[in-house]
Amino acid sequence: MNICKTKDYEELSRRAAAILAAQVILKPNCVLGLATGSSPVGMYENLVKQYKNGELDFSQVTSVNLDEYKGLGPDHPQSYRKFMDSNLFDHVNIDKTRTFVPNGLEPDSDKACKDYDCLIAQTGGVDLQLLGLGNNGHIGFNEPADAFACGTHCVELTPSTIEANKRFFESEDEVPRYAYTMGIRSIMCAKKILLIVSGKAKAEALKAVLCGPVTPKVPGSVLQLHPDVAVVADEEALSLL
Ligand code: F6R
Repeated sequence: MNICKTKDYEELSRRAAAILAAQVILKPNCVLGLATGSSPVGMYENLVKQYKNGELDFSQVTSVNLDEYKGLGPDHPQSYRKFMDSNLFDHVNIDKTRTFVPNGLEPDSDKACKDYDCLIAQTGGVDLQLLGLGNNGHIGFNEPADAFACGTHCVELTPSTIEANKRFFESEDEVPRYAYTMGIRSIMCAKKILLIVSGKAKAEALKAVLCGPVTPKVPGSVLQLHPDVAVVADEEALSLL
């Protein structure tokens, strides 16, 4: 693992954007695995800036997102499709027909997950997978469990994830209880992984991910087994190491 320690979130966002931009420049028709949440917002801002300055071209890029809340459609303000449109896709020249997010409106979980796995396979595989880290060590919505999940699956969100995500909703009751997420195997199949982590609240989880045993109780710990991981984390997130 390659660990880059940044002073703060701003520097983290610049460093992470530089890695993602390098991927797009070196392989213009790459497949990007993307994430939502607070962690990548600054990184996406930097990428939009670089696109507007004429430094980046997304026209041949394909993207697959990690996850989507079950029950939320593309028009819901808190859906991850909406997040991606507002934070990145609407501001760059990516072909939106090649940007994919699990179908939150598909009520049949098996179908939604199988369809998404087929779609990922059809892209030819992810070149660079971006990940944030949950306070409980989750990656994607792979919550702490007794075993690592393989492909895309439907998860029941843990109370700690519901608590962490309620800030985006009017009330805790409105946070969906289920989500479709890429599995650990899908994530581990990416050629390269970029994990971004910011803030003191993540310090314990990041320490467990980087230095603890590899265990499904800390899903991110599996990244210790991936051959090409870049971790970009700020001083606060790395404060326990
Ligand atoms: C988002 C995702 C989640 C988040 C994680 C951290 O697509 O899959 O694993 O990356 O919950 O969220 P933030 O960045 O909001 O702290």
